[in-house]
Amino acid sequence: MTNDRRFPPGFLWGAATAAYQIEGSPLADGAGPSIWHRFAHTPGRMRDGDTGDLACDHYRRWQEDLDLMAALGLTAYRFSISWSRLFAEGRGAVNPAGAGFYDRLVDGLLARGIEPMVTLYHWDLPAALDDRGGWLNPDIAGWFADYAHFTYKLLDGRVRRWVTLNEPWVIADAGYLFGVHAPGHQSPFEAPIASHNLLRAHGAAVAAYRSVGRHEIGLVVNLEPKVPASESAEDQLAAKRADAYMNRHYLDPVFRGHYPAEMREVFGDAWRDWPAADLRSIAQPIDFLGVNYYTRGVTRHDAGQWPLAASSVRQQDSTYTTTGWEVFPAALTSLLRRVADDYGNPPLFITENGSAFYDPPVASGGRVADPLRIDYLRRHLDAVKAAIDAGVDVRGYFVWSLLDNLEWAQGYSQRFGIVHVDFATQQRTLKDSAHYYRRVIQRHGLTDVEGSRDD
Ligand code: BGC
Repeated sequence: MTNDRRFPPGFLWGAATAAYQIEGSPLADGAGPSIWHRFAHTPGRMRDGDTGDLACDHYRRWQEDLDLMAALGLTAYRFSISWSRLFAEGRGAVNPAGAGFYDRLVDGLLARGIEPMVTLYHWDLPAALDDRGGWLNPDIAGWFADYAHFTYKLLDGRVRRWVTLNEPWVIADAGYLFGVHAPGHQSPFEAPIASHNLLRAHGAAVAAYRSVGRHEIGLVVNLEPKVPASESAEDQLAAKRADAYMNRHYLDPVFRGHYPAEMREVFGDAWRDWPAADLRSIAQPIDFLGVNYYTRGVTRHDAGQWPLAASSVRQQDSTYTTTGWEVFPAALTSLLRRVADDYGNPPLFITENGSAFYDPPVASGGRVADPLRIDYLRRHLDAVKAAIDAGVDVRGYFVWSLLDNLEWAQGYSQRFGIVHVDFATQQRTLKDSAHYYRRVIQRHGLTDVEGSRDD
């Protein structure tokens, strides 16, 4: 381990959130419902019947939350815009109160010296557009580009980094293949259409940005390295299929203009020959790639698992988070190196990385001891540093998440925050991991002390 564990000058230290997970007030001041609002209000869909009606009440407490970010010393904040807060019906007349909210949020960030990174779509499609077929309707690329265009004009003077979509794989896989996320469909025929339209929408929003934007735009993907569970040919092929489905499914079209050959194997007849013109528009240059990394997948052949015929194998000696994800930081270094090698060393941001654990209750004196999360953070930051030392162009890191929040269909059961939220009182308390992260930011990196113990 080298002594110099400082990150490059200008490296951004951020935290990330998403609108439906923190804002609450989903229908306030002229906003329209999103598919997540509907999903959460459908009995049986959400753990414990939780909804985003209040969430972290960030819509009303945003100033307090910005002060928290400033106290942590964050130099960047990644948040998402709720499309149906800006356009209640997804299209047509803008809702001035919604625009005003994000306008003030951006000003508040800049006033505190925090750079905004704006995600245009973090899963909360306007319900009115879902009524027209949502991600299955080819017109959605145009609807999305129109919404994006409006938002660029509103904020690009002050926002230097834009993200079109957050994790298209999850949207298609959880929303259209397995039905565990909104809009809750379960169809191998719909999922490939949804993911193709997501990528078309991404391409259309990048094109719209080139006409009015003056800064940078990229895509955020969640990448999960797939490692074969054994040397058997079957397991190796299973890992390759899983990698194609989850990772290359999005990287290949965006950076190379084609889908991986394995997609037909996975989806059979449901996979189509997509028009070459679509792929050209999907493959136009982006300015950076955002990588969300949580875990790896040790993968074996498993004929019973549809449609991949592959499943993950639990590792005896590893730590697992409460979401059931193996803690495996070394795979982040190799993943970043692979993205750099295979896709032309694009500028990268770690746009999400974090962990849910069972935190103890807030102790008197206001302490939340979360040593497992500190350990997770430290080891993943170390892994990022190792990739930078190997020549990968990583420009910033955003911890997931600033606040404990609504973990989608898992409701409030999974706490990812470095700041604890008491959902009964909305009281925020910095966990030990928040104090740790503040020290990392202050030093612009890790120290050998921090590399070896919880100081
Ligand atoms: C998403 C977040 C989510 C986190 C933890 C990512 O898939 O972008 O919204 O809360 O992972 O599951």
